Amino acid sequence: MKVIGVCGSPRIGGNTEYAVQYTLDRLAEQGIETELIRLREKNVTYCTACYQCVQMKKCTINDDLEGIFQKIEAADGLIMASPVYHASVTPLIKCLMDRLGFSGRWRENAMQAVDTAYTFKGTPFSGKVGAAITVARRAGTTSAFSDLLLWFTVNDFIVVGSGYWTMLLAGKGGAVNASEDTEGLANLDHLADNMAGLIKKLKQ
Ligand SMILES: Cc1cc2nc3c(=O)[nH]c(=O)nc-3n(C[C@H](O)[C@H](O)[C@H](O)COP(=O)(O)O)c2cc1C
Repeated sequence: MKVIGVCGSPRIGGNTEYAVQYTLDRLAEQGIETELIRLREKNVTYCTACYQCVQMKKCTINDDLEGIFQKIEAADGLIMASPVYHASVTPLIKCLMDRLGFSGRWRENAMQAVDTAYTFKGTPFSGKVGAAITVARRAGTTSAFSDLLLWFTVNDFIVVGSGYWTMLLAGKGGAVNASEDTEGLANLDHLADNMAGLIKKLKQ
């Protein structure tokens, strides 16, 4: 059982990384193998809409996307975490969302002619457990969270929640103090419980 945690922050050691690693640590306590991917350390450029993936069954841009794809494909769960930038997710994680989601869709499915009913055969992520985390100074946590949920749900993940939307608040001026948001951390504890519990049930 393995969960990949993707940190979409450009800041190494920032609040978002803290939130993901905190959740991965709670999962590890429950016997789940974990791996943190810091997108800041990867080269994942934007989708160029070349549509090569429709025929080639993979993204043909030669960067770190395929390696991340394979790690997620081999895992049972995925946490996608982003700082809030103008009430949305960061460009780093949006590049990953677009390319994972779009190229993944054509692995098992053919693009249909306009007059043909779509027969969906699943994605490489079908049945995997997904969870979203956002971090902000003040506002936009729910809209960025929605961006992540919409991505999970269109890509056929099973999404887990918590007792509240899983988001942390940090201080002004770019403060790195999300660890002080004890209410937010309690929600991450519960998220990890739900995620570990669901993965174990799906593995039975
Ligand atoms: C370009 C930019 C845009 C931001 N937009 C928002 C925002 O819309 N709402 C908010 O509350 N904080 C906003 N922030 C603050 C960050 O969300 C906050 O500092 C967060 O803790 C950063 O996470 P990190 O430590 O993982 O980088 C913004 C910061 C930057 C750099």
